[in-house]
Amino acid sequence: MGTYAITGSASGIGAATANRLRAAGHDVIGVDRVDADVIADLGTPDGRRAAVAAVAERCDGRLAGFVPCAGMAGLPGRPGSLLVSVNYYGAVEMIVGLRDPLAAAAGAVVAISSNSTTCQPGFSLELVDAMLAGEETLARQVADEADSLMAYPATKTAIARWIRRHATAPEWIGAGVRLNAVSPGMVDTPLVEEGRADPTVAPLLDMYPMPMGRAGHPEEIAAAIEFLLVTEFCVGTVLLIDGGTEAMFRPDDWPTRWNP
Ligand code: NAI
Repeated sequence: MGTYAITGSASGIGAATANRLRAAGHDVIGVDRVDADVIADLGTPDGRRAAVAAVAERCDGRLAGFVPCAGMAGLPGRPGSLLVSVNYYGAVEMIVGLRDPLAAAAGAVVAISSNSTTCQPGFSLELVDAMLAGEETLARQVADEADSLMAYPATKTAIARWIRRHATAPEWIGAGVRLNAVSPGMVDTPLVEEGRADPTVAPLLDMYPMPMGRAGHPEEIAAAIEFLLVTEFCVGTVLLIDGGTEAMFRPDDWPTRWNP
């Protein structure tokens, strides 16, 4: 049995993952703004630093896994800069800060991307690049030039690319730490309920095609997260789990032939 840390543990996918791991007998350190073992605002550098220190202390220097679930969706009136700081930096800086306890336990990370990365056209690749360059101030500025509905897929593309770029590096898999991500489609959680309550977003959600006829359950995403946490051969995997939406839009886009 190991110790796992989960951000966004108070709600939705994070809560379902915490429940699943606890039911399997593991210790879980929950991190969130409310209702958690570690209370922190991951949208700020100070909050992230405090959260890293608290998790490292609670796990006694050995972390079997880390799942940065904390995140928020785009909404009219919500600045894109908030999504940049919570969804991207709130995940990446926590992962980097917890590398040593993860390496001590040959641990695994499962980050949360989204199928908005491949199913929502038109978002800013400049914003993706600014995040990946580690330029939080610049990325926040770029994000605020557009609607946060367009910032969301950029934050989720950046986190997926960060995972794939670092997964094969000496300081990650070379140190025994596996980095992977899930890419969920629409899942019934408070994040989606918030969108359903918004007059601009609700019709967009109604139009979103779900070939299997329903949105996902957070427990289904938790099962996929656990699979990636425990399956040693998964390194740099981004596991799409979306009820068929992406396969419907883009059936032939994967596999794509490599043209080096
Ligand atoms: P949720 O709203 O149910 O849970 C998000 C949690 O993150 C909440 O407990 C919230 O308090 C916490 N959080 C937000 N800002 C924070 C901050 N600054 N500091 C600390 N904690 C903070 O949302 P859900 O749906 O469970 O989302 C979890 C992750 O899954 C997010 O990263 C989201 O972008 C992603 N995702 C969700 C999908 C969906 O359809 N629900 C689809 C694809 C990805």
